[in-house]
Amino acid sequence: MIRLLPLAVYVSLAFGLPASQSSASNNSYDISVLSPTSSIPGTTPPSTEAPTSTAASSTVQTAGPTPSFTPNKTTVEDLWAQVEKNKPVLVAAESNLTDSTELKLPPAPHAFFPNYLSERTKILKFPKGFKYGVASAATQVEGAAKEDGKGPSVWDYGPHVYPDLYTGAPDVTNDFYHRYKNDFARLKAMGVNTFSLSIAWTRIYPLGRGEVNEAGLAFYDKVIDEAIKNNLEPVVTLFHWDTPLALSVQYGSWMSPKVIDDYNQYAETVFRRLGDRVKMWITFNEPRVFCSQVAVIPYTLTYPDGTNSTNAPYQCTHNLLVAHGTAVQTYRKLVKEGTIAAGQIGLKNDDNKPTPWSDSEEDKEASDRHADFFVGIFAKPIYVDGDYPATCKETLGDILPPLTPEEQKLVKGSADFYAQDLYRVNTAKAAPNGIEACKKNSSDPNWPTCQDNRVEYTSGAPGGWGYGQQADPRVNWLVNSWFALRDQLKYLTKTFPSKGGIYISEFGWAEAFENQRTELYQIVSDYGRESYYMDYLNEFLLAIHEDSIDLRGIFAWSLYDNFEWQSGLTQKFGLQYVNFTDPALPRYFKRSFFSMRDSMKHHLEPEDFNS
Ligand code: NOJ
Repeated sequence: MIRLLPLAVYVSLAFGLPASQSSASNNSYDISVLSPTSSIPGTTPPSTEAPTSTAASSTVQTAGPTPSFTPNKTTVEDLWAQVEKNKPVLVAAESNLTDSTELKLPPAPHAFFPNYLSERTKILKFPKGFKYGVASAATQVEGAAKEDGKGPSVWDYGPHVYPDLYTGAPDVTNDFYHRYKNDFARLKAMGVNTFSLSIAWTRIYPLGRGEVNEAGLAFYDKVIDEAIKNNLEPVVTLFHWDTPLALSVQYGSWMSPKVIDDYNQYAETVFRRLGDRVKMWITFNEPRVFCSQVAVIPYTLTYPDGTNSTNAPYQCTHNLLVAHGTAVQTYRKLVKEGTIAAGQIGLKNDDNKPTPWSDSEEDKEASDRHADFFVGIFAKPIYVDGDYPATCKETLGDILPPLTPEEQKLVKGSADFYAQDLYRVNTAKAAPNGIEACKKNSSDPNWPTCQDNRVEYTSGAPGGWGYGQQADPRVNWLVNSWFALRDQLKYLTKTFPSKGGIYISEFGWAEAFENQRTELYQIVSDYGRESYYMDYLNEFLLAIHEDSIDLRGIFAWSLYDNFEWQSGLTQKFGLQYVNFTDPALPRYFKRSFFSMRDSMKHHLEPEDFNS
């Protein structure tokens, strides 16, 4: 227990447990606010659980019971046996919706949203060819965790081995694996023309590298074909946080440069297989969020030599950027030689440049620093000059591995478009003891951004007000800050220019107390989510028409409630409700689904509305 308690603190900070447990976090998964000088507690596992992997040298630190792994010997089944030691993986009930496209639409709800169509946007259209999409991720929707040869990812491992730290496991979730045809029929009913999915690396390479699992590739073949058949353009993300467990155990995955080759091999296999049909690729989902968690269970099992919880996020930043650049190089080579179809590739940034709390130079600096650490650290090397922002280099010193001239060349220009998960805009106030004092002191609780991390100063506004409507209190980073979107889009497109335009690769809403609602009519009456979407659409239209922002597409998160990481199935972001207590996993349309449908029908060119 002594070991688990501090880990729980890490995880609650990382994944947005209730505000009372995580008051310093301004992002549901952000652990950059963790004191980077703290070390992972309990680094000495009981000797019986010591790893037998190649990484098991005397310098390796481990956090918790690490599965044993012997290269060329340990099989996928062996790994699963260790994952399932205390808690077997569940399987979905048989469903009559497997392979079915049957769909009954209920009558539309009474009108509410037209009040939100302002006089100014009523006649405005999204540009021709606009991508109107919804987004998803393999771990969050697929289920079928062990099916057809899939290997375990860290997200199978964590919830099974540390069940007390999680709200369930992603074993079944939405059972998209068997129901995708029906789910696509439902999306089509919303007029959506683009579907963003991620590939589970361990379906393709169950052990992260080595032998390819043909059944995994065949599954995605079917999904892509079915999407295209329904006029849903597939956008494929290669990595949405589900690191193969085998790579974590063997060398610490993203903390080690060894991951670059393994990721590139995986990416190339997927490009070759799906690249005739997929024209838009994302290498990484929210790398900044991901890297801020690598020192947290379940992401880390093994620290490579020289890595500790302080520098781990930045080793990851470096390796991930190089892995991104390498995979993009591979992709462009395959396109150039005609092996796969021409398309575009990029990655999904997250967070925002916060609004300064006041006009003071210090608060403006706090906002700039936040933007550098949360967006620029990945975006500047890719879209500007191949190198990290000066603030990050200066504050982090040796903790941030430098990008060599060759790496800078590789990374610069390695995206054909700019994509941003833009859920909200926050506020930034300078650290109470001043930025200068804070940035020199790596044990300062606000280091390294040196903005005041108290939620009051990140999601609030002067005078004791909130900065926009607050979402579910458990998601304390999320506010409906529609009023700040246009400036945000101006900032992003000016700072990280891209000829391929900008996409909002995710935005969405956690309706307040949705999980506590008991009556179906209350659950599907998600007026807060409906307002959020209508407000945001309104601003997107104004940004395009009045600010000349080259916005090319938007992706709502998410098509339905799903496995929200640490919060499991309890935290709802869906346009559809899924009754997870019923083994048949019935889906129900929420109000927001209809408002999106009707509003997008109104604002899209008719040929872009999928009907
Ligand atoms: C962004 C992440 O990409 C996604 O996995 C998550 O579920 C949503 N935000 C909502 O928190």
